[in-house]
Amino acid sequence: MTKNITNICCIGAGYVGGPTMSVIAQKCPDIKVTVVDLNEARIAAWNDPNTSKIPIYEPGLDLVVAEARGRNLFFSTDVDKAIEEAEMIFISVNTPTKTYGSGKGMAADLKYIELCARQIARVAKTDKIVVEKSTLPVRTAEAVKNILQNTGNNVNYQILSNPEFLAEGTAIEDLFAPDRVLIGGDTTEEGQIAIQALVNIYARWVPQERILTTNLWSSELSKLTANAFLAQRVSSINSLSELCEHTGANISEVARAIGTDSRIGPKFLKSSVGFGGSCFQKDILNLVYIARSYGLREVADYWEQVIIMNDHQKRRFANKIVKTLYNTVSGKKITFLGWAFKKDTNDTRESAAIYIADDLLNEQAGIAVFDPKVNEKQIYDDLNYLHTRSSDENKQLLTVYTDPYEVCKDAHAIAVLTEWDEFKDYDWQRIYNDMKKPAFIFDGRSLLNVKELEEIGFKVYTIGRE
Ligand code: UDX
Ligand code: UDX
Repeated sequence: MTKNITNICCIGAGYVGGPTMSVIAQKCPDIKVTVVDLNEARIAAWNDPNTSKIPIYEPGLDLVVAEARGRNLFFSTDVDKAIEEAEMIFISVNTPTKTYGSGKGMAADLKYIELCARQIARVAKTDKIVVEKSTLPVRTAEAVKNILQNTGNNVNYQILSNPEFLAEGTAIEDLFAPDRVLIGGDTTEEGQIAIQALVNIYARWVPQERILTTNLWSSELSKLTANAFLAQRVSSINSLSELCEHTGANISEVARAIGTDSRIGPKFLKSSVGFGGSCFQKDILNLVYIARSYGLREVADYWEQVIIMNDHQKRRFANKIVKTLYNTVSGKKITFLGWAFKKDTNDTRESAAIYIADDLLNEQAGIAVFDPKVNEKQIYDDLNYLHTRSSDENKQLLTVYTDPYEVCKDAHAIAVLTEWDEFKDYDWQRIYNDMKKPAFIFDGRSLLNVKELEEIGFKVYTIGRE
């Protein structure tokens, strides 16, 4: 038996829900896709007639939205109506690390997931397939199922787990041609029918052999595991970058040398100022918390070390700047090129730049920031969120620029924190002429051409090189 879905709703119009649903709508013109969100401003931005103003910057997304929006893709704040009409409901709301109570700082806060489940239970009058898109602790589906079955109006529910593996900055590419799509569901007959309904949607553009089906718990845990493995690779290479700086080895050469071993592979071996993004830290903390809650101390400690290493890498970069600038940055202008957690996104969640700025502000540096896609309000919000000092003090010590040459003018040092391509093509001679001497560059992304910069006269520090 198969079920053909004609109406989908997605709760949460964020970095995951927005792009994912836009691509499903584009690939399946006969399915009505409605993306809902509580945040009215965000929905208004998704509906902006000018698609360059949609709230998420992601290469290629504007074209997908332009094609499908108004045809079979809709953005709305009417959550109840969308739930009522849909046969399949994706939950794509955020699951931040808990900031209160038991599991504070470690466990995932599932209150938004629970609210969604309760809302679905209240509104639904016909059978629904509920799909977890958000990354969740293993066995969350059980809680969702409980809420739906015990508070619903005699409606049948099937819960699926369909974690998202897209990376920001390449979301559209990743959605068009995923390495795999993972769908977990109940092993019962009804569960298998629900799984097949979702398989049929992806099969419109993803080869069947790339669509993996598993039980619910394997699917939930696979998402956490994938992010933990990826983050571990970054922490592994970053740990060795420090050893390179002491031994004369060069981390880029080491990465190239080991990456040619097909068992290791060349990707995700770029030494950096530390990983950021909304997922890695949150998901590992979550994994650590789950392991601890089952009493698995060694498992928990093993994965926690990935976070400890990452914090060390961020701190060490800030320390390097202070030490190199004669042990004081007080009153000096330090320029940040980049604030986003990686290139090609305007997302700044957990970006290393935030923490490095915070450390340098503690040393009374004056910080000047330029990022091609991140706005001033976001930068101040990120800093203020740390509550290290008052928002007035942050405003006084940090200035946001919209011109790359102005931001570098009279600077004592430049720190490259995001690997935006455009930074490579700047007129570095012009920047050098306008800087204080000696002119220091701290390249946290191994982005710039060291030889050229040194020829101009810069003093260059690159992570993982002596
Ligand atoms: C989120 C999760 O962070 C991640 O774990 C998961 O893998 C996918 O979903 P993202 O899309 O990047 O990632 O989050 P965000 O951009 O914050 O979007 C979530 C949206 O849900 C927000 O726009 C928020 O307003 C909305 N939301 C949240 C609701 O509409 N209802 C709620 O009850 C809670
Ligand atoms: C990640 C996963 O890749 C994706 O599958 C999952 O769905 C969500 O989490 P994302 O956070 O968008 O995606 O970006 P990713 O490309 O994984 O980068 C995360 C961080 O690691 C960035 O700060 C990036 O700069 C850093 N990184 C990545 C490195 O420092 N070195 C590398 O070699 C790769």
